[in-house]
Amino acid sequence: MYSEKVMDHFEHPRNVGEIENASGVGTVGNAKCGDIMRIYLDIDENQIIRDVKFKTFGCGAAVATSSMATELVKGKSVQQAMQVTNRAVMEALDGLPPVKVHCSLLAEEAIHAALWDYAEKNGIQIEGLKRPKTDIHEGEEE
Ligand code: FES
Repeated sequence: MYSEKVMDHFEHPRNVGEIENASGVGTVGNAKCGDIMRIYLDIDENQIIRDVKFKTFGCGAAVATSSMATELVKGKSVQQAMQVTNRAVMEALDGLPPVKVHCSLLAEEAIHAALWDYAEKNGIQIEGLKRPKTDIHEGEEE
């Protein structure tokens, strides 16, 4: 049912934890299943994501997608991080079962929420970034 990559990231999630005085923190939840995701970003003065950590109270697919998403945004610019969509994360994991696709949205939305927090704190705008939802439920059917 799950690819080897999904199992690997579920069993050995990368970048679990938190960052003190993070540049941006984003928390999102899915009211339907009750799962919650929080992402911390450490961003340098050139808008490069120096470090990223996540914490989740979520299912295995949420853990695996968040782990992969953190790997994909690490070292990237905030603009490049905007390209890390849930589809990109799923592709990097060699796919997810259809019923688990919504779980991958938690990671994407949490990154967007953390970027939003960073942008607000610094009075900047990130192209293409919209005010994040705190509950991803509405986006689930997309
Ligand atoms: Fe809730 Fe996967 S079942 S995020």
